[in-house]
Amino acid sequence: MALSDINLWDKDRFVEGVPHEWFTELRREAPVFKHHAGDDYGESEFWCVSGYDDVVTVNRDNATFSSARGLVFLWDPPPDQLEQQRLLMLNMDPPMHTRYRRLINKGFTPRMVSELESTMRKRTTEIIDRVADQGECDFVTDIASELPLQVIADLMGVPQEDRHKLFDWSNRMIGAEDPEYGVTQEMAQHASMELYAYASELAAKKRADPKDDLISVLSQASVDGEQLTELELDLFFLLLSVAGNETTRNLMSHGMVALLEHPDQLERLRAHRDLVPGATEEMLRWASPVLHFRRTATQDLVLGGKDIKAGDKVVIWYISANRDEDVFADPFTFDIERTPNEHVAFGGGGPHFCLGANLARMEIQVMFDLVLDRLHDIEMTAPPARLRSNFINGLKHIPLKFTAKG
Ligand code: HEM
Repeated sequence: MALSDINLWDKDRFVEGVPHEWFTELRREAPVFKHHAGDDYGESEFWCVSGYDDVVTVNRDNATFSSARGLVFLWDPPPDQLEQQRLLMLNMDPPMHTRYRRLINKGFTPRMVSELESTMRKRTTEIIDRVADQGECDFVTDIASELPLQVIADLMGVPQEDRHKLFDWSNRMIGAEDPEYGVTQEMAQHASMELYAYASELAAKKRADPKDDLISVLSQASVDGEQLTELELDLFFLLLSVAGNETTRNLMSHGMVALLEHPDQLERLRAHRDLVPGATEEMLRWASPVLHFRRTATQDLVLGGKDIKAGDKVVIWYISANRDEDVFADPFTFDIERTPNEHVAFGGGGPHFCLGANLARMEIQVMFDLVLDRLHDIEMTAPPARLRSNFINGLKHIPLKFTAKG
């Protein structure tokens, strides 16, 4: 295969599966590679970083590799959106990022997360109960999408009866490239407007009648003595709704498929529940639900022997780093007992390391523990349907049949 055949802009290629053969070739031949531009707006050329060590280096050094300059997405934003998008924590650099992160940490304490666990178990049991008697379900829409949604609603203080609004908005914002959702750019924009309006209304309610939830905390919190503006609060709400939902749903979905494709591992996990935390880490490495993030170089430098200029776009591919044969023994083997397993599915370290990592881990562990208790003889009745995206490693449907117990 020639390196010039590689086209990471081609979203249709990701519908077939992650193009691992491209990443393997890149890691071997050109771990830092100048990838050509695409045909659409914002698809300018970029440095494609595929090796584990380089991904970690870029991820940790926000001074040299900025999140704010060109934002963190593969495609370039329209210039008129830059300022507003920079109010999203993901698109900030220190010291501004440090202040926001400190603020959100106030509402995201380990205590708050651990208090969610018993509610999580109850909610997961109800989710499984709803499909158990049918003997079949769509694992993505009936099971995997429900728990993250309910948990994020609990965390933010969104009434449960409104959670499907969150689901619909975040689907419309993320699914804009997939024909199944029939979403135009305009509809995606409309979804974010509806979400902002909802967030503002919710914050007003929480200010008047604060409870023990994240939006109550944030609507009263301040950065350097100043209250968050309405727009800042709306953007927090948007980030958490999207970041907390899609990723965890896709992880659970890929985890389920990986277990079904490796029946020996599934049976081992069923018999030894103490392996669930390790299996969760392997699912994270295996699936890497966020395929990449982008940075922009702030100065001239050399990375992987290549001259990178200030202003160049640098894209770190977590999915590739997580299969780096120099770091993981037999990286293409799914092994729930893999140790060590220093995957970068939540980022390669540094200031933006996933804020929801512990929450997501807990959700995944609770989910698999209860699924393995209740669902037996699980079989896929059709191949999983993949999301058309080169950003999110997404599964849209996994039709299953099973025997329910308990
Ligand atoms: C399996 C599930 C998840 C995966 C794979 C994932 C992955 C990631 C990754 C790769 C980053 C960027 C890290 C970096 O740039 O260094 C990130 C950031 C973030 N994640 Fe997650 N995430 C998951 C679940 C969650 C959940 C459940 C929440 C919230 C409830 C969440 C909230 C965030 C936020 C707010 C950020 C931005 C942090 C910042 O900019 O400082 N994530 N996540």
